[in-house]
Amino acid sequence: MHGGAWVWRERSLNAAGMPPGKGTMMRNYNILLDASKMPDAWYNIAPDLPSPPPPPLHPGTHQPVSPDDLAVLFPPGLIEQEASQERWISIPGEIMDAYRLYRPTPLRRAYRLEEALKTPAKIFYKNESVSPSGSHKLNTSIAQAYYNKIAGIKALTTETGAGQWGTALSIACSMFDMKCTVYMVRVSFDQKPYRRGLMQTYGATVLPSPSDTTDFGRKMLAEHPDTTGSLGIAISEAIEVAAKSGGTVKYSLGSVLNHVLLHQTIIGEEAKIQMESVGEYPDIVIGCVGGGSNYAGIAFPFAHDMLVNGKKIDFIAVEPTACPTLTRGPYAYDFGDTAGMTPLLKQYTLGHNFMPPGIHAGGLRYHGVAVLVAHLVKSGHMRAAAVRQNPVFEANTLFARCEGILPAPESGHAIRVAIDEAIKCRESGEAKTILFNMSGHGHFDMTAYDAYLRGELVDYELEDAILQEGIASIPKVNA
Ligand SMILES: Cc1ncc(COP(=O)(O)O)c(C=O)c1O
Repeated sequence: MHGGAWVWRERSLNAAGMPPGKGTMMRNYNILLDASKMPDAWYNIAPDLPSPPPPPLHPGTHQPVSPDDLAVLFPPGLIEQEASQERWISIPGEIMDAYRLYRPTPLRRAYRLEEALKTPAKIFYKNESVSPSGSHKLNTSIAQAYYNKIAGIKALTTETGAGQWGTALSIACSMFDMKCTVYMVRVSFDQKPYRRGLMQTYGATVLPSPSDTTDFGRKMLAEHPDTTGSLGIAISEAIEVAAKSGGTVKYSLGSVLNHVLLHQTIIGEEAKIQMESVGEYPDIVIGCVGGGSNYAGIAFPFAHDMLVNGKKIDFIAVEPTACPTLTRGPYAYDFGDTAGMTPLLKQYTLGHNFMPPGIHAGGLRYHGVAVLVAHLVKSGHMRAAAVRQNPVFEANTLFARCEGILPAPESGHAIRVAIDEAIKCRESGEAKTILFNMSGHGHFDMTAYDAYLRGELVDYELEDAILQEGIASIPKVNA
């Protein structure tokens, strides 16, 4: 029987509302998709946008960047995708093969969470934590390693915050027999030795950032010897290595860019087929936002139905109150890194010098956001919400107890808002269908869970003075 509904084998629930005994009924918790039905093209939202987003600008001339400007960092296949206007982009066979190691991922109906919340809402989530790296990041690292490999590149550099992205790129590089150097934000390097060990196990070289291996790292260390680092600094270091390598090393970014968001659309495409297979369609689609890639991954394939077919869907991008890019940042051109080496991107930004407080959702501590997500929030097609750290861990703990899966602190931002929407349904009596992306597991985040359980987590509501200080670093651009 379909519909994620109860399948009655005998009579009914007992007085406690529980199944009367073994083998009496079966809930369709896991809505699986056969590997042969996995989509074989990524969805590119660019041609469906009501207006084109402002172009990326050269950091020196402030003129739109050309493919040549990007060639120092990225291989041709990815540069082409960055600017593509093709709606569907075929996934090469070697990437499909690597995806099949863990895809299609399950879509889950959170029956137990619904019961705990006593909500008439139906809650579904895509479980990206089942990938070998533990998060959605592998969907793009495999693709990026592949396009670099076929361009003859043998080594990649990157940055990582909490370690999820670095782990994903380390695995992808080991699959395609490439070298991988990861600049890991120092606070995570010190706090998460097991994440570091994991990347090293896959063959990566892992350096704390700022490091003494780059000019920018040395400058940062001289100016701020005790700095805990930031994603913006680590990006600058990784880019510097690629830019000075004479073409032998390329740079790989785990979020923000169009091609990264593109690779993540496999999540939403699968979710659509899976929801359709049980006769469901979401009223609300939710994802957490660092740079915006997993959110875009779940949201964009559904946004196609909104933009092309006029479907009404409530899209919610969730960020931490400690790093409120979409909810409190201005919409402006800014750099993607601290040193100002990347192209200028039109985005919501807290300023490229903004140093977010040390919350445990390391992957959400980024000053900016993807141009495509910013564009859709700016145009009112999508909305943003910000949540505090303790409510996130409260949601994660409830989720873990109901669903058995320990979510990453980042993913907990989506879970928090999904729960809040389900509670609203309880109050209004509406039976909405809610879909969110469970972007990764939290097995390496036990320090954070410990702190929460001991009541020692701090909630940051960013002070206006700190916000304004970061915003002051946004460059003046006449565009
Ligand atoms: C589990 C998890 N979810 C979400 C994110 C945020 O990144 P993005 O917004 O690109 O999905 C990260 C980033 O490291 C992550 O590790």
